[in-house]
Amino acid sequence: MALHWGICSAGKISHDFVCGLSTLDPTLHSVMAVAARSAERSQTFAELHQIPKSYASYEELASDDSIDIVYIGSINTEHLPLCKLFLNHNKNVVCEKPMALNVKQLTEIQSLAKEKNLFCMEAVWSRFFPVYQKIRDIIASKEIGEAQIVQATFCLPLITKERVAMKALGGGAMYDIGLYTAQFAMMVFGDEAPTSVSVSGHLTSEGVDAGANITLLYPNNKMATLVYSGVCGMSNEAEVGCTEGKIKIYNPFWCPTGMEVTKTTTGRTDQFQFPVPNSKVKPFYDNSTGLRYEAEAVRQAINDGKKEHPLMSHEASKNLATIVETVRNSLGYVIEGDRASP
Ligand SMILES: NC(=O)c1ccc[n+]([C@@H]2O[C@H](COP(=O)([O-])OP(=O)(O)OC[C@H]3O[C@@H](n4cnc5c(N)ncnc54)[C@H](OP(=O)(O)O)[C@@H]3O)[C@@H](O)[C@H]2O)c1
Repeated sequence: MALHWGICSAGKISHDFVCGLSTLDPTLHSVMAVAARSAERSQTFAELHQIPKSYASYEELASDDSIDIVYIGSINTEHLPLCKLFLNHNKNVVCEKPMALNVKQLTEIQSLAKEKNLFCMEAVWSRFFPVYQKIRDIIASKEIGEAQIVQATFCLPLITKERVAMKALGGGAMYDIGLYTAQFAMMVFGDEAPTSVSVSGHLTSEGVDAGANITLLYPNNKMATLVYSGVCGMSNEAEVGCTEGKIKIYNPFWCPTGMEVTKTTTGRTDQFQFPVPNSKVKPFYDNSTGLRYEAEAVRQAINDGKKEHPLMSHEASKNLATIVETVRNSLGYVIEGDRASP
């Protein structure tokens, strides 16, 4: 069955999501409408992507009966009110990461989705890439033994971007990029909550996190060492050390097209490539047509009657939000509703 998408906000990632959808079978994914805070932005977006309806308010999109599911691509502080708006209008929801600013907000969204019996997922798109599927298969098959150590680095000089710089806009590098290192470690270790989270890092003069080193510990001597920063660039790869080999994901590890697997016993390294297709309209961000994998996975889950996606379940989002909140709070970035808030 086809999915009829509504697009909430006309910014960069919404643009890229529609580019990704444009690479899928149009009889299975159709974009019915877009909404932005201004009629002009919404109309320009609709014309560029040939979307039939454009709205000048999110409420109009919520009231459109032709829509099955809304993709929310607004800034972080708007995710809670927008998820509630669309769920309350009986729309399924896929919301950009971080779905909420803290665990309290996330629980509010997930509880409402459960009460309304609607599909609801945090858009951690990385997990739907073929490279990530290959990694899950290798780990499950134990062909290079047991996964023991994860190392991931995500550093880009983006802390001066307004929505990342400002606390009032839900800024900070952990929400924007650090979160991807944590979700990767979580996936390798079966999405369980770590037994401990240690953090050292820096706040900016605006009071948001500039970057940090994070160590996650898991049972049976497993651990992850993660580095993220919004002040400079690094090679942005990820590695998994296993008892009989290792896996490397090439840059950009959060939306990858290439990886390699080394077997210790043979010394042999195999490379794998999974290129993303091009779209007619050019996306803003790296490999963004790869948003297609997430969109198609959501369609299949909804067709199967699921209300959560097993690759990014409510529990996984909650464990991720717990890590993100712990990291922020350890560095002194506290917001209302955090466990560390007064
Ligand atoms: N999956 C990924 O790879 C990826 C990549 C980048 C970002 N993201 C996530 O996507 C979200 C948006 O990022 P982006 O780069 O697309 O941002 P963006 O283009 O700067 O803004 C997105 C939209 O947010 C709304 N907005 C902007 N400033 C606002 C304000 N002060 N108050 C209320 N709404 C405001 C606008 O909606 P209108 O159009 O309605 O005016 C804007 O179009 C973030 O949550 C980010 O974490 C994900």
